[in-house]
Amino acid sequence: MKEKFDLENRVALVTGGSKGLGKVMAQAFALAGANIIISSRHEDELKQALEDILSGTSVRGHYVVADLSERAETERLAREALSVFGHVDILVNNAGANRPQPIDELTDENWDQSLELNLSAGMVLSRALVPRMKERRWGRIIYISSIMGLASKEGRNSYSTTKTALIGLARANALDLGPHNITVNCIAPGPFLTDLTLNLLTEEQRATAAAATALGRWGKPEELVGPALLLASDLGSYITGSVLVVDGGLLSKTW
Ligand SMILES: NC(=O)c1ccc[n+]([C@@H]2O[C@H](COP(=O)([O-])OP(=O)(O)OC[C@H]3O[C@@H](n4cnc5c(N)ncnc54)[C@H](OP(=O)(O)O)[C@@H]3O)[C@@H](O)[C@H]2O)c1
Repeated sequence: MKEKFDLENRVALVTGGSKGLGKVMAQAFALAGANIIISSRHEDELKQALEDILSGTSVRGHYVVADLSERAETERLAREALSVFGHVDILVNNAGANRPQPIDELTDENWDQSLELNLSAGMVLSRALVPRMKERRWGRIIYISSIMGLASKEGRNSYSTTKTALIGLARANALDLGPHNITVNCIAPGPFLTDLTLNLLTEEQRATAAAATALGRWGKPEELVGPALLLASDLGSYITGSVLVVDGGLLSKTW
């Protein structure tokens, strides 16, 4: 059973791996034996995060500074990832941002950047990395969607749009790639305490979110490790085109 979680000789690229959910997932993949590539916009954070991720492991790691709201930067990330290790076996399209604006105040800049970062960057990376996965007849793609892709909240116009679209993208990818032994899934996290949610919500809103879950609390980033390892390893070999909701039971409530 243990070897089914084993990621030895795999290479994992986790976008937004400098902190929050991305860092925790990258850490788990490294501990399971995968070589790691992480990316974000801030080199100082990436350097420190990579050190933390590699510590206590014998795997190799690399970071790439890239702004994924710029198409050319995303394409460069894909090229660099392939040139460092020769292939990427596990791609976690995780980098994302949530900039609430009501529909009648939504700026073109917010809409365009959200679509590029939260949605298109994932498509661009998958498109670029899939050919090597096909050659190796093994691959795992995980898109980090959100419960905001299955329900929504006031002002989440660009965010919910992108997170819902990722689910459609994952399903279509799964159909294209199934014959090549590549699985493609979404994880839809509920409320997890990270910089994203800490900067977005007031203390009162955070208490409301906790109360809306069945478990009555926020998720800890480490609680995403199990779902990510399942979908990234051989243990999840028959799961594809799925959405794995990890929300402490939030979506189970009506009101
Ligand atoms: N936390 C939650 O409750 C929650 C719930 C549902 C879904 N999610 C999703 O989970 C993913 C990770 O969220 P998180 O909570 O871990 O957020 P986080 O702590 O804010 O981390 C976001 C990561 O993405 C990177 N990033 C942001 N903008 C970027 C850009 N333009 N180009 C490249 N990298 C960029 C950030 O690095 P830099 O800022 O340094 O670039 C950071 O590494 C996101 O897709 C989010 O929508 C989170």
